[in-house]
Amino acid sequence: MTRSIRPLIVGNWKMNGLTASLNEFNAFGAGNDAALRRAVDLMICPPATLLFALAHSAPGKGISIGAQDCHVKDSGAHTGDLSAVMLADAGASAVLVGHSERRADHGENDAIVRAKAEAAYRNGLTAIVCVGETRAEREAGKTLSVIRRQLKGSVPEMMTAHDLVIGYEPVWAIGTGLTPTAKDVEEVHAAIRAELKKIIGKEEGARTRILYGGSVKPTNAKELLAVANVDGLLVGGASLKAEDFLTIAGFYR
Ligand code: 13P
Repeated sequence: MTRSIRPLIVGNWKMNGLTASLNEFNAFGAGNDAALRRAVDLMICPPATLLFALAHSAPGKGISIGAQDCHVKDSGAHTGDLSAVMLADAGASAVLVGHSERRADHGENDAIVRAKAEAAYRNGLTAIVCVGETRAEREAGKTLSVIRRQLKGSVPEMMTAHDLVIGYEPVWAIGTGLTPTAKDVEEVHAAIRAELKKIIGKEEGARTRILYGGSVKPTNAKELLAVANVDGLLVGGASLKAEDFLTIAGFYR
């Protein structure tokens, strides 16, 4: 498959993974063979407790390490929080911001997500900015307006294709086994591409990777990654096992 944008598959482990997962991570590395490395970038976002260990076992595996969230500030009196400075220091090269679970569980709005993306940018981390509509918003025909509003509010204008990735994750598709049709994914990704060009400029917007996420499995990944403007996938549950994750990435071979 000829592509102008190098694809990226991100595994978001969410609140899963203990020290025993380090063995599983070795299997991720072992399966990332030369053909796969040529074809696709791979990233795992482990829980913060495993970030340092995975980042230090990553060299040679061809898998980069991302964090799942960061604070808007670089340091200070914020008990329990982690800054982008700390995540970079621990070995992360990217951070998810604005995941719908953060938006829902921690009341994160677009302004907070934007400030987190700025913190990532300031500290040399790629910000993976997540957007997505709820079931009610989709049923009300508001999907595209919601996505545009989230992008406008969450993506800082100075970002470039090098330090920004967009994750489109319909909230109703996460962990449910449901996925939008290929046509629906195509429509949303085209709208994201157009909006990105307005926010960060035509050239950067055209080159920024836009990932689809929400119930991606080995059984549906091939169809999803064939959709126009899908430059990779953001995988939750199916990223916990090397075999599933590598099968999904393997469709890019
Ligand atoms: P699932 O793949 O488990 O639906 O999770 C998607 C997700 O939220 C990844 O960030």
